[in-house]
Amino acid sequence: MKSYPELINATLIPSKKPRWLAVDLFAGCGGLALGFESAGFATVGFEKDRDACETYQRNLGGSCVETTLTPDSELPDCDILIGGPPCQPFSVGGNQKGLNDSRDGFPTFIAAVKKLQPRLWMFENVRGMMYGNRWYLDEILNELKSLGYEVDIRLFSTVHFNVPQKRERLVVIGHHGGFAFPKPIVKTWTAGEALDGILFSESPESKFLTESMDRYIANYEKASCCVRPRDLHLDLPARTLTCRNLAGATGDMQRIKFPDGRRRRLLAREAARLQSFPDSFEFTGSESSIFNQIGNAVPPMFAYSIASAVAHYLTRAEAKPSKRADALAA
Ligand SMILES: C[S@@+](CC[C@H](N)C(=O)[O-])C[C@H]1O[C@@H](n2cnc3c(N)ncnc32)[C@H](O)[C@@H]1O
Repeated sequence: MKSYPELINATLIPSKKPRWLAVDLFAGCGGLALGFESAGFATVGFEKDRDACETYQRNLGGSCVETTLTPDSELPDCDILIGGPPCQPFSVGGNQKGLNDSRDGFPTFIAAVKKLQPRLWMFENVRGMMYGNRWYLDEILNELKSLGYEVDIRLFSTVHFNVPQKRERLVVIGHHGGFAFPKPIVKTWTAGEALDGILFSESPESKFLTESMDRYIANYEKASCCVRPRDLHLDLPARTLTCRNLAGATGDMQRIKFPDGRRRRLLAREAARLQSFPDSFEFTGSESSIFNQIGNAVPPMFAYSIASAVAHYLTRAEAKPSKRADALAA
C-alpha cells in the first residue's frame, strides 16, 4: 500500500489533456482547482489576493486572473462553474440583507451562473451555513433553482476522502439530472501517517513555545478541565486547520509535541500535508499569507473526489444519445 505522501503526490497531477473547462471563482491558492485539474479539467481562476493568485499561477496548469469580482465581472465561457464564495458573517440582530449585501460573494456567483449557464455548477462553504442562517442558504438555492437546475446539497467530513483531517464542508451542486455525490472511502489517515518523513524537523523556521506559553496552556487546560490537550495527536486525524490556529502564537489544536516534551507550531509544509497538498506545491508570500492560503483552501484530495464525480456525470451525459438525434434518425 502507498504511504500518504506517495498517494497525494501520485494523485494530484494536473491533467495534460483536459476535457472540460472549469471557471473557479474566489479561487484562493487553488486547492479546489488542483482537485479538478487532476480529474480531467482545465481551470481559470479569479482571485483578488496577489499572493494566492501567484501561488495558483505557479502550481496549476491554468491561469489565475487577479481581480476583485463583482456581479458585473466579465468571465469566459466554460463547461462548469466552481467556487467558494465568501459569506459575510451575520451578526445577531444586525442588518440581514441576504442577497442584497454587496460585500457577499453569492450575488457574484449567482450572476455568473445566469450569464454562463454552465452544464453544472458547484460551490462549497462552511458547515455553519446550513444551520445558523439557513434562511439565507434557502434564498440562494431558490434563486439558483429558478435558473433551471436540480440542486443537491451535502455536508461532508473530508476525513472520509483521503484527507487526514476532520474538516466539515458543505457542498452544493446544480446539474441537469443524474449527478451522484462520491461515496466515502473506508480508509482514514492519521496526522502521523500524513507527516511521514517530515516529522520532528527542527528547521530554522521552527517556532517553539516559550516556557511562559507552556505555563499559560497548562493553566488554561486545568481551568477548563480539558480532557484532550489541544496539541496535534499523531495517532488521529487532525482537527480542522484554520488560518487562525495555524498562525496563532501557541498554534492551538495543531502544535506538534516532540518526544522530549517541547512543542512548536506547525511549519507551512506540515500544514500543507494535513490539507493534502502534494510536496511539489509551492506557496508564495510571507508566512502569515501562506498560512491563510492553506487554512482557506479546499483540501485538494477532497476536491479530487468531488471532481471525479463531476467528470463521471459529464461523461455519462455526453454518452447519452440526444433526444434531437433520436428524432432526426426516426
Ligand atoms: C475560502 S477562500 C477560497 C479557497 C479556494 N477555493 C481554495 O480551494 O484554495 C476565498 C477566497 O476568496 C477571495 N475573495 C474574497 N472576495 C473576493 C472578491 N470580491 N473577488 C475575488 N476574490 C475574492 C479571498 O481572497 C479568498 O482567497
